[in-house]
Amino acid sequence: MQLDIERLIEDFGGPGRLAEALTRIFPDEPVSRAAIYKWRERGSLPLTQLNKLAQLAANQGRTFNYNDYLAMAPMSAATGRNHKMGDRLFIFDTTLRDGEQSPGASMTREEKVRIARQLERLGVDIIEAGFAAASPGDAQAIHAIAEQVKDSTVCSLARANDNDVRAAGEAIKPANRGRIHTFIATSPIHMEKKLRMTPDQVVEAAVRAVRQARNFTDDVEFSAEDAVRSDMDFLVRIFDAVIQAGARTINVPDTVGYSIPSLWYQRIHTLIERVPGSDLVVWSTHCHNDLGMAVANSLAAVEAGARQVECTINGLGERAGNASLEEVVMAVKTRSDLFGLTTGIDSTQIVPTSKLVSTITGYPVQPNKAIVGANAFAHESGIHQDGVLKHRETYEIMSAESVGWSANRLTLGKLSGRNAFKTKLTELGIELASEEALNAAFARFKELADKKREVFDEDLYALLSDGVGAVELEDFKFVSLKVNTETGEEPRAEIVFADEGHEKRAASSGSGPVDAAFKAIESVVHSGAELQLYSVNAITKGTESQGEVTVRLARDGTIVNGQGADTDIIVASAKAYLSALNKFHGKENWLNPQL
Ligand code: KIV
Ligand code: ZN
Repeated sequence: MQLDIERLIEDFGGPGRLAEALTRIFPDEPVSRAAIYKWRERGSLPLTQLNKLAQLAANQGRTFNYNDYLAMAPMSAATGRNHKMGDRLFIFDTTLRDGEQSPGASMTREEKVRIARQLERLGVDIIEAGFAAASPGDAQAIHAIAEQVKDSTVCSLARANDNDVRAAGEAIKPANRGRIHTFIATSPIHMEKKLRMTPDQVVEAAVRAVRQARNFTDDVEFSAEDAVRSDMDFLVRIFDAVIQAGARTINVPDTVGYSIPSLWYQRIHTLIERVPGSDLVVWSTHCHNDLGMAVANSLAAVEAGARQVECTINGLGERAGNASLEEVVMAVKTRSDLFGLTTGIDSTQIVPTSKLVSTITGYPVQPNKAIVGANAFAHESGIHQDGVLKHRETYEIMSAESVGWSANRLTLGKLSGRNAFKTKLTELGIELASEEALNAAFARFKELADKKREVFDEDLYALLSDGVGAVELEDFKFVSLKVNTETGEEPRAEIVFADEGHEKRAASSGSGPVDAAFKAIESVVHSGAELQLYSVNAITKGTESQGEVTVRLARDGTIVNGQGADTDIIVASAKAYLSALNKFHGKENWLNPQL
């Protein structure tokens, strides 16, 4: 989107008349003709002036709609600046950092490495692997990822202080390409109320952090936290300063998900125009989804010249989440006629990555989620089905296969051997940490293949959803369950599970079979946790399908998610509950940094 500022000014009678009219109705804040020329030169005007224009128009008896002055510019013509910016869009994935800030989405080091390896396979340019100063565990996870990931840049977040930058620098040391991403808040409300720092002190801390970070790597990114509510002149000042100090990527976050696409376009465009040395850096955006506009705002930033988007798999992230990687990537790919940009993403790896992240974090993907939701390519209406059968493109703008859906492919059978099983897991992007984990998973597969006639890819993802990949960290292991339910009778569950290798037996009644099973476990474990969320989804079609259960437990401010899958959903529920309890027990192994 481009603001037709020339037409806007002309509609108010030209620069002279507009300045006079504004000064007349707002005598306390006079506007000079020179100021209007400046708007024209920059192609934008301050937000406060927009409100004044609306009032001026109302006084003149007409309506003023800012959107009337926004024109869709073809990317090649988006002021010609986009040519200068290049036609490669860098994808910066922050699933392992911002994504991990979702309640209960904490991961073990091994899980983080598994996701990082898959992100590398997906073709992500930069993996934000964590926040090194948050905990020694997170620093070790970043270090381990830096050792193993070779094709993607590995990045650590750092607040703008010596300790954080040093921790980040140490953590990324083994990386082929390592980045330090340092940030400080720049909005008046954050500077005054949170940091209790003056703007001068904030600039000083930012410059110092960038300089220090450059001692560890040439690849330094600076973010102005809460840029959406920051003063434009202050942003120009701080970005100018950090570029001079050596920052090579400038990130403009909508930390609180407050913007809308036209304004975000405007903000990024203005910054690129006004910041001296803006052509020396890659401009980036990082949008949160509080108003459901994270992807739209990110794409508006791209149209304005941003060449890095920070995003997460499945849109995971703080509060309502971040811009979803799969939506950003597929929008840019599917509408290459508009964007004219390429990414390094292998889109056929999108669905496997989405499933892996969902499985590990315990965050199921909503069925109607774009690209990776189970219904994203399902056509219900007869007219649509008929159209798609005749010619796919009648109702599909991209193919399910192009994003990695394999259409419930039958994968393995009852007679498949361990090698075939291992090869299939590799094909699906699932890597297990040890031979022991592989053996456990294979045993579970055999059990499942006995119960279910057909085993699909989806079943294999689910098979690994309740921690079987991290056997060495499990205290509690499900063994067996007996449940009695009868209309009019109180349900009763008898469960057997292992606690650090010791068999435990427990029984309880409950309001329903799930309640009875959970109460039976609690009668032995006494975790004192509160059940915050319970959900069950069928993994594949048909009544034979496994149910995948997610359980979220909270205790003393710690939130954990557990998952379990089985053709019997009460068994799946008990497994999910035990998997969540395992996370409480191995708490030091589960990393959940919070800013
Ligand atoms: O949302 C935000 O502002 C962040 C920064 C640390 C980039 O996550
Ligand atoms: Zn964020």
